[in-house]
Amino acid sequence: MMRRLAAGNWKMNGTAESLGEAQALASDFPSPDCEILICPPATLLSRMAGTAAGTAIAVGGQDCHVNPSGAHTGDISAKMIADAGGTYVIVGHSERRSDHGESNAEIRAKAMATWSAGLAAIVCVGETQQEREDGRTIEVVRGQLEESVPDGATRQSTVVAYEPVWAIGTGKVPTLAEIAEVHADIRKELTARFGAEAQEFRLLYGGSVKPSNAQEIFGVPNVDGALVGGASLKADDFGMIVAELERA
Ligand code: PGA
Repeated sequence: MMRRLAAGNWKMNGTAESLGEAQALASDFPSPDCEILICPPATLLSRMAGTAAGTAIAVGGQDCHVNPSGAHTGDISAKMIADAGGTYVIVGHSERRSDHGESNAEIRAKAMATWSAGLAAIVCVGETQQEREDGRTIEVVRGQLEESVPDGATRQSTVVAYEPVWAIGTGKVPTLAEIAEVHADIRKELTARFGAEAQEFRLLYGGSVKPSNAQEIFGVPNVDGALVGGASLKADDFGMIVAELERA
């Protein structure tokens, strides 16, 4: 059985003083029943990996380039994330899709680049408010899954995060039935493609997960953890979410 995963996405937040949050989390959870991951900004990756060394906290990147090296000013590669001590890379986050116009094909290439560096990819999918209102949620998520999760994905190499765009950073959360419907469909689609092993892929829910709603979200079938933005920045809040995942 793969362990459930509590993943924190710090986005463009955090300087040296924030390392104390990772330290505090590590000391609160010396041997957690789930995996704990923090994806800090690239500038903190190496230092956070140092802080997390010897603890139960894993660190990861928030994005990577499709190539291992080259003339790509401002980008970093999965190989560099591995070199800095990362073990995961988030690919296809909706903020990358919208701010940087990333396509499904590019995200698939990034996931493969992540694997080539020996890391696991957290592939994000999710519909916009308009797509949900138009009744296209399942169709949109299926399309993203099909085109951005590469062939050859395994339970070790790949995590899928369902993050409705309209729920990210807004305090709005789908109903539990809506989360259940999408997660069941993701499981079904992955099973059709990858066979029985897909039962063990971790499927994360993301979008306004907080200590106050974590318990009910983790009770939804096929939710194997969370990708947490704002509430992952403080060890107290993220710790409460981790504790709910341990209990789930
Ligand atoms: P949020 O972000 O928890 O702040 O809504 C989630 C994410 O973007 O991964």
